[in-house]
Amino acid sequence: MTSNTPQPATFKPSGALSGKISVPGDKSISHRALIFSALAVGKSRITGLLEGEDVLATADALRAMGARIEKKDDVWTVHGVGVGGLMQPDAALEMGNSGTSTRLLMGLIASHAISATFIGDASLTKRPMGRVIEPLSQMGADIRARETSDHKACLPLAVRGICPAIPIEYRLPVASAQVKSAILLAGLNTPGITRIIEPVLTRDHSETMLKGFGAQISVTTDADGSRVISLTGEAELQPQKIKVPGDPSSAAFLVVAALIVPGSDIVIENVGINPTRSGLFEVLQNMGGDISFKKQRTVGGEPVADIHVKHSPLTGIDVPAHIAPSMIDEFPVLFIAAALASGETTTRGLHELRVKESDRLSQMAKGLELLGVKLTEKDDGLVIEGSGGKPLSGGRAKPVIETALDHRIAMSFAVAGLVTKGGLTIDDIRPVETSFPGFDALMKQLAS
Ligand code: S3P
Repeated sequence: MTSNTPQPATFKPSGALSGKISVPGDKSISHRALIFSALAVGKSRITGLLEGEDVLATADALRAMGARIEKKDDVWTVHGVGVGGLMQPDAALEMGNSGTSTRLLMGLIASHAISATFIGDASLTKRPMGRVIEPLSQMGADIRARETSDHKACLPLAVRGICPAIPIEYRLPVASAQVKSAILLAGLNTPGITRIIEPVLTRDHSETMLKGFGAQISVTTDADGSRVISLTGEAELQPQKIKVPGDPSSAAFLVVAALIVPGSDIVIENVGINPTRSGLFEVLQNMGGDISFKKQRTVGGEPVADIHVKHSPLTGIDVPAHIAPSMIDEFPVLFIAAALASGETTTRGLHELRVKESDRLSQMAKGLELLGVKLTEKDDGLVIEGSGGKPLSGGRAKPVIETALDHRIAMSFAVAGLVTKGGLTIDDIRPVETSFPGFDALMKQLAS
């Protein structure tokens, strides 16, 4: 983060939002574009890369392991070292706030004969790493992590990779694309077939992109409906030209803002609408949101569209648990939409939200209560009673919302600020830089 001190920011009631805008590149795809390019033999070119702190942490770590990564105008060039070609980094890898960088790079290092220490900020240092340590240890990596008082394995941690690693067949115990991708990355430099059984589908960017890079990877479905991903190791990846689409998880804040601010009518161009990511849009449409997808096309194997959103009265719904993986990062802003809907919105099956950049169920519940929203916090979800479109107002004239180093909590409440009676302050806007540089300016542009 650029500054060491929290930077509060105030968000006030807004007039109608209008205009045509675009959002920065997809965070998940950007991490993967850099990592796979670093493993290809030769020069890849990436446009639309998200230049947020999380992705830059991945780029810095790859540079520290020997990949040359440069930016000129809007094009990022990555000179890959080839699968198996990573070098020993000289210093600890600074992961900042980024769980994706940490877990994916742990997988990458696990099957190289190098070792690395991972460090991060106060939020990342609390997040559980056992979910990747377990499969990577089965593959032969030696991983030493700090153990917390409640026996969780957390950063700082050290990975000593092994080459050759052992191919495994691993059934994911938790629906996590980060765990899946960590194993696939380790599998790339492992002889034989690494197989992952995925009972619940999660974002599939790694599989799509690996195919594009020429890896031998197949996806089938087994008798009980689980996906089975088989990757042939010691792969040779071919350099690519990659166009990263706009991030649906960033567009989500603007979509909800337009739905809840009366009179709004906006278009967000060039947004990824991969079905493993677009659950929020479906839920908002089921709540009555006027959202339509224009100019649908495929870019680099990923479905993309321009999203047209108009202000709409929303009705609370029961959000089925099975849709959660396709909108796992979007629940904070869904809770804001629910707070403005008529009637009750129920969410469940969201234990994972408690181990994101913050405990998102409890942070969202605390902030919404400060705004006077009636809700019940359950173990695995929130039940929210909406205001029926009436502006939110807490007891205090200017509520201050705690964001707990979590970019999505900060942006969700920034959106809520637009529909308060007298505005609100979020205690720290800095985390937004991890995934959505320019968020504040874009919100102002839409409101002007
Ligand atoms: C991501 C996967 C998700 C998501 C995160 C990005 C990825 O995490 O929350 O923001 O790029 O693979 P989990 O794998 O923990 O669900």
